[in-house]
Amino acid sequence: MGKVATFPVPGIMGIDTGTLQGHRTHMTRILAILNYKGGTGKTTTVINLAAGLALRGERVLAVDLDPQGSIGVSLGVRHPRTISHAMLGHAPAADCIVPARENFDVIISDTELFQVEGELWRFNNDSVARRVLHHTLKPITDYDYILLDCSHAISLLTQNALLCARELLVPIAMDYLAMVGTRQVLQTLKTVGRIPGHQLRLTLVVPTMYHVQYRKDQEVMALLHRYFDGKVAEPIRSNVRVAEAASHQKTIFEYAPDSAGAVDYARLVERIANDVG
Ligand SMILES: Nc1ncnc2c1ncn2[C@@H]1O[C@H](COP(=O)(O)OP(=O)(O)OP(=O)(O)O)[C@@H](O)[C@H]1O
Ligand SMILES: [Mg+2]
Repeated sequence: MGKVATFPVPGIMGIDTGTLQGHRTHMTRILAILNYKGGTGKTTTVINLAAGLALRGERVLAVDLDPQGSIGVSLGVRHPRTISHAMLGHAPAADCIVPARENFDVIISDTELFQVEGELWRFNNDSVARRVLHHTLKPITDYDYILLDCSHAISLLTQNALLCARELLVPIAMDYLAMVGTRQVLQTLKTVGRIPGHQLRLTLVVPTMYHVQYRKDQEVMALLHRYFDGKVAEPIRSNVRVAEAASHQKTIFEYAPDSAGAVDYARLVERIANDVG
């Protein structure tokens, strides 16, 4: 990239947090998909949820906030401009958008995002540093959904996602450690909830990699229902087709529309689409 960062937030030190969510005339639902545990199905959920909503006729933008760049790789999408260009102020966010499927656009990422994280740390004002993504995406108004694929790092980038999103979706893989990551997410949710002018609600926890026949998985499900009463999605079953789809650069609906994975993700799509808060 080699240019000096010019963040799209010059002079917003005195930002009015009350205006943080008031800019969109059309109601775009912005969801952060987050769990501080790695490999819980975040990226897989972003891709297949976005694809399913798009098939339903919704206009969807998925934004990759993980330097691993899995969204572009999994969908077979390339573009010279990434979320790093947008966040560093080197290009308007609209110029970084690339169509992936009908109704389904993406902003991809790559390892330049590490540079963004470094630049964010240079801000001596924490509240400004955490709102760069919000300001970057503010002009993007013509979507029904924006899905933010977070990395599992507890980073300033993730905090940016939490201050940009209004809803949180937490994929939880069926193991104990995943629950630990989830507890951290909920702690964060509480902290964000105390920021004036910003409302972030937990929309759903999504059990992933679920094995119907494992008693352990049934026990974790029962625990989830106890913790997150009314906010637990039907589980996404462990299904090899889901993993294969990504390696073929396809969504589950393209790769194996009759698979358990497609059935489960279609159900999740309906649940999200009908969850109006
Ligand atoms: N329902 C499923 N059944 C089988 N494999 C799955 C399922 N969901 C995801 N996987 C596979 O599990 C692995 C991890 O999934 P994914 O990359 O979506 O997790 P992640 O939470 O985004 O990981 P990270 O924290 O590294 O970003 C991938 O190889 C993916 O293909
Ligand atoms: Mg991921």
